[in-house]
Amino acid sequence: MKAEILKLLKESRGFVSGQELCRQFGVSRTAVWKAVNQLKQEGWPIEAVHSQGYRLLGEADVMTASELAAVLDTEWVGKRLAYFEETDSTNVQARRLAEAGAPHGTLVAADCQTAGKGRRGRSWSSPKGEGIWMSLLLRPAFAPACASMLTLVAGMAAVRGIERACGLHPLIKWPNDLVLNGKKICGILTEMSTEDEMIRYVVIGMGINVNNTEFPEELKGTAASLRMELGREVRRSPIIAETARAFEEYFGIFSRTRDMAGLREAYDSLLVNRDRQVCVLDPRGEYRGRALGIDDQGSLLVEREDGQVSRVISGEVSVRGIYGYV
Ligand code: BTN
Repeated sequence: MKAEILKLLKESRGFVSGQELCRQFGVSRTAVWKAVNQLKQEGWPIEAVHSQGYRLLGEADVMTASELAAVLDTEWVGKRLAYFEETDSTNVQARRLAEAGAPHGTLVAADCQTAGKGRRGRSWSSPKGEGIWMSLLLRPAFAPACASMLTLVAGMAAVRGIERACGLHPLIKWPNDLVLNGKKICGILTEMSTEDEMIRYVVIGMGINVNNTEFPEELKGTAASLRMELGREVRRSPIIAETARAFEEYFGIFSRTRDMAGLREAYDSLLVNRDRQVCVLDPRGEYRGRALGIDDQGSLLVEREDGQVSRVISGEVSVRGIYGYV
């Protein structure tokens, strides 16, 4: 009922009387009052005026299971939702749920992670209430080689989610960091379990810095948040909803060919490194070249100084701008 009351208050422009809420939900005034109080405790600015009823004073960045369930309008992403106020890592939680049989599309989100994981064994700073820390569990009947491309698909979905929900236009630093004005605002960590040359499940973890106002010393030069860019607080739940919607769309396109053929052009148009000089940190020897875009397998094509084009495979090497992170 809490979610329905919230929905009603969001839809109505003014006051909704307590009597009306009692009638709609067939409950007592005390039950309505309790539900409204819970919503207030979650952070919703609800005004209660004697003889007029209740009204929502504005939007707030509230992230709860009922808020997420109310905003998600997807077909399969997040139909099963696991929300934690605090957890070690949503990727670890998603893997636990996967081992316990959770279905394709399960979405795990948390307000805070105590052991957020980054790529290459690094940790991921995930303070309470400041970001989107979420993981999507997929059970596609694909070969393991598809997993790294699903990460690219998730990166595209996060770009669209942010664009649609708050109007910013992040770009992608291949393979899957999202950047705004040269600083990282989102990272993606994909983990998988395989069996008999097939994916058993894959967990795509996304960390989006939304309302952070500062970062640990070592990240200050390279990290930013959406709030820092917009200069105001940003609501997280619409970004989650839009990202989930975009992921469904892009996953559908990806699934037809099981490669990036249908998404390549769109991905390349988001690539921050496109046509720029990059430094490829290949363990067999670093080299420089111009990033051309991706191929159908999601590898980055880099034209070397002698004109030869190399395929850079994600996970094996990293790419840096020649003057810094981007
Ligand atoms: C990176 O190093 O760029 C990847 C960071 C991925 C962070 C996200 S936050 C949600 C999910 N849970 C984790 O522990 N990590 C990912």
